Amino acid sequence: MAPLSTMSRALARSAASASVRLPVRAMSSSPALRDHATASSTYESPFKGEPKTTKVPDFSKYMAKRGGSANAVFSYFMVGTLGAISAAGAKSTIQQFLVNMSASADVLAMAKVEVDLNAIPEGKNVIIKWRGKPVFIRHRTQAEIEEANSVNVAQLRDPQSDEERVKKPEWLVMLGVCTHLGCVPIGEAGDYGGWFCPCHGSHYDISGRIRKGPAPLNLEIPAYEFPEDGKLVVG
Ligand code: FES
Repeated sequence: MAPLSTMSRALARSAASASVRLPVRAMSSSPALRDHATASSTYESPFKGEPKTTKVPDFSKYMAKRGGSANAVFSYFMVGTLGAISAAGAKSTIQQFLVNMSASADVLAMAKVEVDLNAIPEGKNVIIKWRGKPVFIRHRTQAEIEEANSVNVAQLRDPQSDEERVKKPEWLVMLGVCTHLGCVPIGEAGDYGGWFCPCHGSHYDISGRIRKGPAPLNLEIPAYEFPEDGKLVVG
């Protein structure tokens, strides 16, 4: 038994050494050995020769029957039409907005007031309403004009000559709002023969200039003009 056992061990060792050497040869970088390894390979891809499963849908029925230029004309037509409709809508919207924002007819009518001066006798006052405020119109006499011009302007609280306050000496036009706190002064009253504000005792002269009392300024002169003889337009 012992010789057999020794022999079998020797055979096993030789077989083992032979099986271990084989991979070493396969890893060799020698070109001859590499060709030998390739030629003996039996690997095959599992996908090789498989039928294709990705199928592209058929879009042929969606393709244009006519030429490309016909489609372009239709596209331009649609874009142009929609653009025109949008522009018309935008114009209408903006127009409506501006019309709503502009002054109404009754407000425009109040912007200017026309007065017939022939109806105002000399030495009389008329009060009209303009933009919600009273406007005093005085047809002054020659004596009143001379009195207004005889005042020493330098001594006035709000220095202003009569010429600066009138366009025609016989017509004095001014807002009937006291410059102290906004009361409406009384005509042909006060210490200076002009207007008197009873709220706190301000006295204005025949040119509407403050002469006495707490008011700091002369009565305000509005915008006005004489478009023709006997006609006054305030505003
Ligand atoms: S409001 Fe006219 S004096 Fe005060």
